[in-house]
Amino acid sequence: MAISNETINEIKTRADILEVVGDFVDLKKAGSSYRGLSPFTNEKTPSFYVSPSKEIYKCFSSGKGGDAISFIMELEGINYIEALKYLANKYGIEVEEEEQTDEQIQAQNERESLFIILNFAKDYFVETLWEHEEGKSIGLSYFKERGFSEETIRKFDLGYSLDTWDGFMKAAEKKGFKREIMEKAGLILASENKTYDRFRGRVMFPIHNVAGKAIAFGARILTNNKKQPKYINSPETEVYHKSNIVYGIHQAKKEIRNADLCYLVEGYTDVISMHQSGVENVVSSSGTSLTKEQIQLIGRYTKNITVLYDGDNAGIKASFRGIDLILEHDLDVKAVVFPEGEDPDSFSRSMSSEAFTDYLKENAKDFITFKTNVLTDGGKKVDPASKVQVIRDVIASIALIPDGIKRSVYIQSCAHQLDIEEQVLLSELNKLLITKQQKESQQRFRENEQVEAANYPPEPVQEEVKETQYASFYVERETLRMLVNYGAEAFDEETTIAQFIVDETGDISFQDPMIGKAIGMAGSMLEAGQKIGPDQFIGPQDPNMSQLVIDMLELKHFISDGWKDKHKIDTVHESEDLPEATFKVVLRLKRKKLEELLIKTEEDLKSNKNPLEQDELMKIYIHYKRLFDEVGKQLGIVVAK
Ligand code: GTP
Ligand code: MN
Repeated sequence: MAISNETINEIKTRADILEVVGDFVDLKKAGSSYRGLSPFTNEKTPSFYVSPSKEIYKCFSSGKGGDAISFIMELEGINYIEALKYLANKYGIEVEEEEQTDEQIQAQNERESLFIILNFAKDYFVETLWEHEEGKSIGLSYFKERGFSEETIRKFDLGYSLDTWDGFMKAAEKKGFKREIMEKAGLILASENKTYDRFRGRVMFPIHNVAGKAIAFGARILTNNKKQPKYINSPETEVYHKSNIVYGIHQAKKEIRNADLCYLVEGYTDVISMHQSGVENVVSSSGTSLTKEQIQLIGRYTKNITVLYDGDNAGIKASFRGIDLILEHDLDVKAVVFPEGEDPDSFSRSMSSEAFTDYLKENAKDFITFKTNVLTDGGKKVDPASKVQVIRDVIASIALIPDGIKRSVYIQSCAHQLDIEEQVLLSELNKLLITKQQKESQQRFRENEQVEAANYPPEPVQEEVKETQYASFYVERETLRMLVNYGAEAFDEETTIAQFIVDETGDISFQDPMIGKAIGMAGSMLEAGQKIGPDQFIGPQDPNMSQLVIDMLELKHFISDGWKDKHKIDTVHESEDLPEATFKVVLRLKRKKLEELLIKTEEDLKSNKNPLEQDELMKIYIHYKRLFDEVGKQLGIVVAK
């Protein structure tokens, strides 16, 4: 959909970077900026900064930076339009959209059209549930029988698909949607002689992405027909990768952050019933085994997961892998087991919400206790062989935790619980860690060998060209980096760093036009008597320029001097000798540019057959070569004769 310019401008003016980021990151004031733990990495010391005055954020551990919109895009993994809509929603701004014609629907890029058809389908199934006779008498009454309130049914956008071959397809075609896109969205199936709805006569559970858009469906059968699967799910599509999403994340994310805890259950109905019992920080991996991406998704909101298990021991051992995966990603994990025959859905409905919440709190066991209980069959198996097995298994899990301090805390707790000397456990742990390290370094070694083998024999000509281009990119960026970070500081008694860079690079043509433009801008600002700093380059007038400059920002712009002194932090190593650093950066830039000119002139020489012009080119070549060697000497590079 197209969002009007007025709406975009309103969103940009209203979106406050502190508020937007503050929904995801716990920010503390640090000088004129705010600081917190990066939501993009698992860091322990905060290196994520927000500058309210510049309206930007910068993450020094991942290098990412930008404005409120790009923060949302990065964090939620959504595109520009989706991020705008997220912000509009947050600030209660009504999004003015231009009405779509049939042609426009077709012209949307594929992803966008998939979202449109999927959300049309969601609305259609919801409407069928509430308005259609069959929907009401079969679908709605099924949900009500299960104890779902109307509010709950609405909250999860639950719906119903008619028991016909093409109820949905017809409705969508009437709206101008093409069968091709319905098929790509996984909503219809096409065989040689027939095209028909994928979901028929089932209650519908839309699967939402983080931003609340329907990206897929789970559909439950209403009968006990054992010949048909209980659930049918959407296939993988351009917008739905089932290993990347957890069911319920949109409805749960706020409470997950509030509670700093996420409950993980197996089924759609577990999530829904728990919400109705007042436990809203719950998501489901929807019957599949937990993946790394799902853990990282949850990890954006909390570092604590509690896994809820049905009361039959059979599946629990198989779930140990999920627990290990959580530990490996540096999240803390606990487990709750329900009484025999109960799942979170049935159990939460069997008691008051207070009693249910209490049960969860009282029965959450750390993973050591949990594993020990399961492996010893609730403490029944106490023979030495079983005990050895338990120790091995628990230590293997502890060895996966990346954080050393956490590991030692768990070792202490394990020693206590299993009544074993801590030293014994530690030496077991160390054995495992050493083996793991050896394996990893062997792996790296093999990978390096493979890379080298793949590059043999090297192709010198191609390599050289590549190197030149890459190096030029690098030195150009280094020049701009010095300019925006240190431009206002002194180069010598009369000149600033910015003035020096502008003067020395006046005749250089930059491969990256944005860098050329920035240096040109700096020149005009200096003439107007302005001081050069990053702020002049960051702003809504030029988003690409802003992004480039934000990427280059040094920590010093986020830390006040007082704070620096107090914490004795040496923020910028090169600032020890800025003139020297700047001088070298400019020389390196010049040397690369001369190298490019040399290569270019050499090529011209080879292709030119006119003796007079050849003579001229030769003179030019020698001139460049002299300059090139001269610059090299100044940089302390030994020139080969
Ligand atoms: P109810 O039986 O309605 O309570 O559903 P449930 O959500 O509790 O399902 P259950 O505990 O039996 O299974 C857990 C999850 O596994 C479900 O939510 C589905 O995501 C998935 N699942 C269950 N049965 C099937 C099936 O037949 N096919 C597929 N693809 N997934 C299933
Ligand atoms: Mn169930």
